[in-house]
Amino acid sequence: MITVDEMSTRAQRLLTTEEGRVAHNYHPLDVVVATGSGAVLTDVDEVEYLDFLAAYSATNFGHGHPALLAAAEAQLGRVTLTSRAFHHDQLAPFAEGLTRLIGKQMMLPMNTGAEAVESAIKVARKWGYQVKGVPAGRAKIIVAAGNFHGRTTTIISFSDDPLAHDHFGPYTPGFITVPYGDLAALEDAITDEVVAVLLEPIQGEAGVVLPPPGYLAGVREVTSRRQVLFIADEIQSGLGRTGRTLACEHEGITADVYLLGKALGGGIVPVSAVLADSDVLGVLQPGQHGSTFGGNPLACAVGRAVVDLLATGEYQQRASELGARMRERLDALIGRGVVGVRSRGLWAGVDIDPSLGSGRQLCEALARRRILVKDTHGSTIRLAPPIVITEAQLDHGLDQLEESLAELS
Ligand SMILES: Cc1ncc(COP(=O)(O)O)c(C=O)c1O
Repeated sequence: MITVDEMSTRAQRLLTTEEGRVAHNYHPLDVVVATGSGAVLTDVDEVEYLDFLAAYSATNFGHGHPALLAAAEAQLGRVTLTSRAFHHDQLAPFAEGLTRLIGKQMMLPMNTGAEAVESAIKVARKWGYQVKGVPAGRAKIIVAAGNFHGRTTTIISFSDDPLAHDHFGPYTPGFITVPYGDLAALEDAITDEVVAVLLEPIQGEAGVVLPPPGYLAGVREVTSRRQVLFIADEIQSGLGRTGRTLACEHEGITADVYLLGKALGGGIVPVSAVLADSDVLGVLQPGQHGSTFGGNPLACAVGRAVVDLLATGEYQQRASELGARMRERLDALIGRGVVGVRSRGLWAGVDIDPSLGSGRQLCEALARRRILVKDTHGSTIRLAPPIVITEAQLDHGLDQLEESLAELS
């Protein structure tokens, strides 16, 4: 990140125009991106940066992946939106590929991650009333402390992050929060009214927090035994990031419902989906749920191309191999500015010694070294470079992290 004074007049003008006209719901670094290719983002002054965030894992396949661009461009010239009032020729092949990849019978296409979460909440409640026999209006869903599932009013109702939650009430009832990773607390919270447990298999926004080994398997066992749906929010953890198609695979478990988003749209269009078997997703009948843009032809064409990339297994393997390399380098920084590292695949939460400064300050220092990364909470930063990053680029970014920490010490 060059300082604002060093920026071209054009870049400065863009920042000022944005500042006065766009709601301040984000606090972006002062970088004005103009183009992207692979793991490289280039700003309006033609300064190149390495992307170590990948749009919160939405650009897992890098910027401008040729196969994804080709799929989008081909569909742009055909038809882009029909609404679901009619059928189109991209939904069936997308559904066929995605259900095969994930191993579920059915999918519900939506757009953003939050919509997928909202959709799953509705499906779980209806399943609870219709299949489990919960009395009308009584359904409860168990969620974990530290969760992040999106920004709608219902979803922030069960967030314990004051920034996400406070001042936006009245809140949606029907959620019970238990500590993440505490199986006994989760089982204790289950009553006859509980229809689902909604969890991130790895908590991304919380700082790439992994549950204790065996936790997800325990959740699977207890939810099956108590007739409760296990909903895995894999919107950030899924689709290659952790070295597997789904983070749940690391624990050898299968959830009842998977939520996908972010990378499903290849960084081109918002595409999300709820996946489940027909005994669950089959509860939805015409008119009960929908979205004008959900499952549109352009989204499905890009989604099909994403599924094709993942079906090769190459990206999962690459994330796993590069992730091992990244982990080794990060572990070597413990005691040298880093106090904790958590990672799975090419995804790491790095806790910086708070005496060196905030995560934000480190991100600003890294941006000056042309590495783009984002803090999560306090002094934690999250590394999630596109999976197509080269070994040399990855090493370069980690060298810059090491040097920035040394500089701050
Ligand atoms: C686990 C998880 N669920 C849901 C969401 C919400 O996705 P979106 O921002 O597309 O609504 C996010 C976004 O960061 C996420 O990490």
